Amino acid sequence: MNPQPQQGSSPAESPSPKANSSVAGWIVGGAMGLLVIVGVVALLIAMMFKASTEVAGNPPAPRGDAVRGKTLYIQSCISCHGPTGAGMPMQGGDIVHSDFVMKKTDQELADFIKRGRTPEDPESTMQLLMPPNGGNFKLTDADRLDIVAYLRTLNVGKQTKK
Ligand code: HEC
Repeated sequence: MNPQPQQGSSPAESPSPKANSSVAGWIVGGAMGLLVIVGVVALLIAMMFKASTEVAGNPPAPRGDAVRGKTLYIQSCISCHGPTGAGMPMQGGDIVHSDFVMKKTDQELADFIKRGRTPEDPESTMQLLMPPNGGNFKLTDADRLDIVAYLRTLNVGKQTKK
């Protein structure tokens, strides 16, 4: 059933066996080249996907991205802590003039955001509940570090309160 292209052609036109094997070589080489290209493209896509899903997920760099953190703050924290971080009555406290924010390490603050705080907590300042992640269960470790980086740009600590 396989048509043989060379059959019926004159000897002068039919490619030599050597030419045939080099054509086969081209085909094998081409197929392997294609595989390599497909592999590289797949790798690039995987890297792009990773970069888009875990921005700033770079373990050696503890500091988050404050610009991204601001966007996350607006989405997850602003309703209770307000646009400036000064807090909203009966919603959330002042995180600008907060020694708690100032004195905790980045990781401690990220862990705090993950946990939230109950009114029974000895550190409670308002006897109100802060839900874990401010209620945004989608926040990742990298997201929380980005938010912490943004909080650092807002926070001035209690001592400087005017
Ligand atoms: C549903 C309202 C609400 C949301 C949303 C919320 N918080 Fe809170 N947050 C609170 C309340 C209430 C407190 C104070 C709890 C207490 O001590 O009584 C608090 C306390 C805090 C504190 C401690 C301040 C201090 O000086 O003790 C930090 C830091 C904080 N929140 C950060 C955040 C961040 C970051 C987000 C967004 C991921 C967020 N909060 C989202 C309600 C909220």
